[in-house]
Amino acid sequence: MKKLAKTTIDQIEKVFDVPTGYRRAHARGKSYKARFIANGSASHLTVAPHFQKGETAAFVRFSHFSPDPTWADAMSPVKGMAVQFLLPDGEMTNIVGVTSPVFFAKTPEIFSEMLGVVKSFKKGKPSLKELVSLLADYPESGAMLNNIRKMQAPSSFSTGQYHSIHAFYLISQQSQKQPIKYLWEPENGVETLSPLDAIALPVGFFEADMEDRIAKGPVKFQLDVIIGQSEDPTDDPTKEWPKTRERLTVGYLEITEKAPEAEGILFDPTVMTAGLECSEDRILNFRHHAYEISHQRRMSET
Ligand code: HEM
Repeated sequence: MKKLAKTTIDQIEKVFDVPTGYRRAHARGKSYKARFIANGSASHLTVAPHFQKGETAAFVRFSHFSPDPTWADAMSPVKGMAVQFLLPDGEMTNIVGVTSPVFFAKTPEIFSEMLGVVKSFKKGKPSLKELVSLLADYPESGAMLNNIRKMQAPSSFSTGQYHSIHAFYLISQQSQKQPIKYLWEPENGVETLSPLDAIALPVGFFEADMEDRIAKGPVKFQLDVIIGQSEDPTDDPTKEWPKTRERLTVGYLEITEKAPEAEGILFDPTVMTAGLECSEDRILNFRHHAYEISHQRRMSET
C-alpha cells in the first residue's frame, strides 16, 4: 500500500501542480483551538476517553479540498473539517470530515487509475469529455461525481455538515463492536450558496468569515454517530448508509480561537485510541500512508 501511496502522491503533485510546503490535498485552510464536551450518551458503546461525559481540548482545521491553494473558494465546493482530540497522557485521535457523504473511489487502485484519466485540473476542472469517460468506466463513482456537479458549497465553514464517509467501530467495555459513521452538524444550521453567489466570493472569504464569527463567540458543532446495521457496508466509501438510521448525539464542539501553531499537524484519520477501531475500508487504511508521505514532503520543504 505504501508504494501505491507514493505513486498516488506523485500523481496528485503532477495533476494539480502542487506548490512546495503545502498539503497534497486540502492545501489552503486555517486552524483553531476548540473544546469538545461529551454528554456521555455513547459511554455504553465505547470506552474512548473523549466520549465519556466531560471536556476534551481539541484542534480543528477547516480547509478547501483542492491541492492547489490558489483556487478560488467557489472552485472547491467540498470543504474539510479535521478535528484532533487531545487525550490524557499526550495521546490523540482524529475525526476527518468533508461536506460530502460519499467518496468517488472504492479502492486505492481505482483512485490512482482515475487520477491517470484526469490528466490536469490546472484550469480548475476536468473537461466534460474526461468526466464522461470517468463515469462510464467507474459507475460506482457516479454518486459523488454527480453530487459534485450539483454540489453547492456551504455559505461558511460554520454552516457545513461534515461526514466521516468511512465507517469506524466503537468498542465497549465488554469488547462489543458497533459500526458507526460520524456526522458534524453545525449549530448555525446548514446553509449553502447558490453557484452564482459562490463565484462572486473573494479568495479567502471563508477564512475571514470564521475570524468574524469567532470574534463574536464560539462556533459550535454537534457530533452525531450514525448507528450502522448488519447490512450496512463498512468497507465501501462510495455508499451512503440509509438516511433512516438511528443517530446518537455524543457531544458538542466549541471552536474558540485561532491556532496558527496547529497548521503543521498531521490529521491522520486512522489514529485511534482504546474504544475505537478503523473499519476494513481500504481507502481509509490507504489514507494513513498517503497522509504520512504528504506530511513528510511538506515538512521537509518548509
Ligand atoms: C484515496 C483517497 C484519499 C487520498 C489519497 C487523500 C489524500 C490526502 C492528502 C495527501 C492530504 C494532505 C495530508 C497532509 O499533508 O497532512 C489530505 C488531506 C485531507 N483529506 Fe484526504 N485523501 C483521500 C480521501 C479522503 C476522504 C475520503 C476524505 C473524507 C473524509 C478526505 C478528507 C481530507 C481532509 C479534510 C483533509 C485535510 C486535513 C487537514 O486539514 O490537515 N480525504 N488528503
